[in-house]
Amino acid sequence: MVQKMSILLLLLFLFFSFFTATHAAYNVLDFGAKPDGRTDAKKAFLKAWAAACGAAKPAMVHVPSGRYFVSQAIFLGPCKNNKIRVFIDGTILAPTGNNRDTQWITFKYVDGLSIYGGTLDGRGQSMWACKRARRSCPIATTSFTIGQSKNVLVQGLTSLNSEGFHMSIYASSGVTVKRAKFLAPRDSPNTDGIHIQMSSYVNIVSSIMRTGDDCISMGAGTSAVWIEDIKCGPGHGISIGSLGGLPKEPGVQNITVSKVVFSGTQNGLRIKTWGKPHDGYVKGVVFRHAVMNNVQYPIVVDQNYCPGNINCPGQSSGIKISQVSYTNIRGSSATPVAVKFDCSPRNPCIGIGLRDIKLTYKNKPAQSFCKNVKGSTSGVMNPPSCL
Ligand SMILES: *[C@@H]1O[C@H](CO)[C@@H](O)[C@H](O)[C@H]1NC(C)=O
Repeated sequence: MVQKMSILLLLLFLFFSFFTATHAAYNVLDFGAKPDGRTDAKKAFLKAWAAACGAAKPAMVHVPSGRYFVSQAIFLGPCKNNKIRVFIDGTILAPTGNNRDTQWITFKYVDGLSIYGGTLDGRGQSMWACKRARRSCPIATTSFTIGQSKNVLVQGLTSLNSEGFHMSIYASSGVTVKRAKFLAPRDSPNTDGIHIQMSSYVNIVSSIMRTGDDCISMGAGTSAVWIEDIKCGPGHGISIGSLGGLPKEPGVQNITVSKVVFSGTQNGLRIKTWGKPHDGYVKGVVFRHAVMNNVQYPIVVDQNYCPGNINCPGQSSGIKISQVSYTNIRGSSATPVAVKFDCSPRNPCIGIGLRDIKLTYKNKPAQSFCKNVKGSTSGVMNPPSCL
C-alpha cells in the first residue's frame, strides 16, 4: 500500500515537472488571492490571467481548492499563445445584493482556452426575491460568459444559483461544454442554463441542467449546434428562440438535439417566435431520441410567443420555419396536447417531419394540434398526427 502510494506520488511529481517545463504555470495564490470567501480575489485572478495570456508558450492558471470571493472578472484576450488551460479546484463566490454588473465571470477575445472543473456560486437569491416581488430590479447578472472567442472547452464546471443566465455564449465559434452542471431552484426566475447567440459550432454534451428557465436556449444567429446527452429538468426545456422580437435578426440553422431526458419541465423541444412581422428563419433542425417525463408541452412550435400574455403583438410572425424533424420522441405529457404546431398564417411551417412519436397523457392517448403547418410522418404516431 505504502509502496503504491509512493509510486503514485512519484508519477504525479514527474507529470508536474514535465508540465511546468513545457508550460508556464500560474497559481492565483501567488498573485495574492485569499481563499477565505470574503477578500475580493478579482485582482489576483486578473493578474494570473494576464501572465498566462502574455506567455509565449502554453500556459496554465490554477485556482486551488478553497472559497474565493470575486466581485467581477473579465478575462480579455487576444493572448500570445493559443493553449491556455485553467484548472479550478475551488469555489468562486459572486457578490450578493446590489450588484449592477450584467456579467460576472467572462472570457472575451480568446482563441484556444480550456477550463477544467470549478464551482461558480452566483448567489442569486436576493435578485430572485426582488423579481418575485415584482419590484423594479437591476438587470440580472449572467454568471459565466464566453464572448467573441474561438476554440473554447469548458469541462466539468458546476454553476449554482445564477442571478440570471448561468452561461452565455455569444459571437463565438467552436465552443464545447462537457460534463457540466447548471443548478438553480425550479422557481428561480430567468436562470437559463446556457443561452447561445450569434455563434456557431457549439457542442453541449453530457450535462445536467436543473433550472428555473430554459435548460438551453438558442437565439438569433445560432448555427451548427450539437446538443447531446443532457438531463433537463426542472426548467423550461430546450428552446430555439424567442425570435422575431426585433427587426433584422439573423436566422438559426443546422441544430441537432439528441438524447435528452426532460423531467417535469414546462416544455420539451420548443421553437418560439413573437407574433411580429420581422423577417427571419429557422431551418435544418433535428430533434431525436428524447424522453419526456411528465412534460407540459413536449413538442411545441409557438409563433405567437408572448410570455405573461400582456400587450401581445398578435400579428403574423415573419419567421419562416422549415425542415424540422422529430424522431423517436417518447414518454409522458402533463397536458392533453402533447404535440402542438401553432405556426404563422403568413409563413406556414413547412417540411416538418414526425417519425416514431410515442407520447401519452395520463396513460391514455394524447392529442395533436396543427395550425398553418405542412409536413410528413412515418412510423408510430401517438398522438395521431394532424399534419
Ligand atoms: C452542421 O452542424 C454540425 C455540428 O452540429 C457541423 O459538424 C456541420 O459542419 C454543420 N454543417 C454545416 C453545413 O454547417
